[in-house]
Amino acid sequence: MDNVISHIEANFNNYVEELKDYIRIPSISTLESHKPEMQRCAEFVQKKLFDAGMTKAEIFQTAGHPIVYGERIESTDLPTVLIYGHYDVQPVDPLDLWNNPPFEPIISDGKIWARGANDDKGQAYTHFKAVEAFYQVNGKLPVNVKFLIEGEEEIGSSNLSKFLKEQSELLKCDAILISDTSMYDVGVPTITYGLRGLLYMEVEVTGPNRDLHSGSFGGSVANPINELAKIISKLQDKNGKATIPNFYKDVQKLTKTERENFKKLKHSDKEFAKEVDVKLLQGEAGFSTLERLWVRPTLDCNGIVGGFTEKGAKTVLPSKALAKISMRLVPDQDPKKIAKDFEKHIKSLAPKSVKVDVRMIHYGYPVVAPVNNDAIKAAAEACSKAFGRKTVFTREGGSIPIVVDLMKSLKAPAILMGLGIDSDNIHSPNEHFRLENFQKGILSSAYFLNEFSKRK
Ligand code: BES
Ligand code: ZN
Repeated sequence: MDNVISHIEANFNNYVEELKDYIRIPSISTLESHKPEMQRCAEFVQKKLFDAGMTKAEIFQTAGHPIVYGERIESTDLPTVLIYGHYDVQPVDPLDLWNNPPFEPIISDGKIWARGANDDKGQAYTHFKAVEAFYQVNGKLPVNVKFLIEGEEEIGSSNLSKFLKEQSELLKCDAILISDTSMYDVGVPTITYGLRGLLYMEVEVTGPNRDLHSGSFGGSVANPINELAKIISKLQDKNGKATIPNFYKDVQKLTKTERENFKKLKHSDKEFAKEVDVKLLQGEAGFSTLERLWVRPTLDCNGIVGGFTEKGAKTVLPSKALAKISMRLVPDQDPKKIAKDFEKHIKSLAPKSVKVDVRMIHYGYPVVAPVNNDAIKAAAEACSKAFGRKTVFTREGGSIPIVVDLMKSLKAPAILMGLGIDSDNIHSPNEHFRLENFQKGILSSAYFLNEFSKRK
């Protein structure tokens, strides 16, 4: 094991260079125009899987973006770890707020800065290098390893979900290892056992059949932007609760123990507010910030478009307005049920003077992973070793839509071994990843693979 650790330390600079090459491929899954880059990125992943000692590394085409699968089976006596990650990234706008071009990574202040540096290229790549280190040093791995790296996580993983149904035998494993979450704080190794689910909807309001002069028509024809704004404003009440009927019906009550455990975690609302530069935090009445983030559902408008938005002025009464609205969900809310209630509710709020279309973009189920099993214990120990501190267990507000499907169809526990920090700007301009976390992540993964090999 010592040789593997020193190999990782000795080769770390090369790993950073490789990660830069990975990041340079602009694999934005949501943009049609980036389709060829998605294929190129899948091929990059495939090559790196072979480098890591996989005996098989295949690209599976889907109705959307390709899935990359690789494996190295050492022995049927050994446990099998399935490593999941995603090679797709979020869009980069607004471009002018970046300090460097988003797909030209730079190293500064001990961090690597670029889109995907963290989410999820940097985080997932730790496992590629940990596995490769065993392979290069020992010519074999301490456990059987399968890699499942997809290109549609940021758009809901619907094709992976189908793939999983067809290929559960191929993907069979004893534990699912994922690095695509955050650490509780800098230097604090963290295993996340809960993720929120998501329901992402689009609401389009149509008024007149074309844009109109707002002088000749304003006041006599409904303005879709005004009406959409009114609808959105009615989606939350004054206590910060969503107004959709039945929205809270299936929400699991927070247990006393969990509530107390959350209270034990170091957290300051004041510092949290300062970090995002707001005077005051805001959320659902009756819950603490960590509770609001981790165990309570929310509703947010993620984007709104309509009318004239260029510099200057244009007096127009627009024909259409559109909003993207998402809801973060918690156990046992069902995104499919809520989608129906949402649509009904939106339609009930709209006046007859406009037409409203409601569409579902994607959804993912909330996750609570089991915490009492050998895999998690091995992972917590591994992270503690790598970071030199006791691992904490947290829940998180973000979503990884495939996790529930993976756990259910493979009947294996998921280990969310996050390496990001909430201030790393994932999904924002100037995304970055701490090189220290990159390195300690590789070490955590190596310790885990070694530790887990003894546990079955
Ligand atoms: N890595 C994130 C999920 C995440 C972020 C978990 C922060 C915990 C803390 C992941 O890549 C992501 O962004 N997922 C999307 C999923 C969605 C588009 C279906 C999300 O949460 O918005
Ligand atoms: Zn993401």
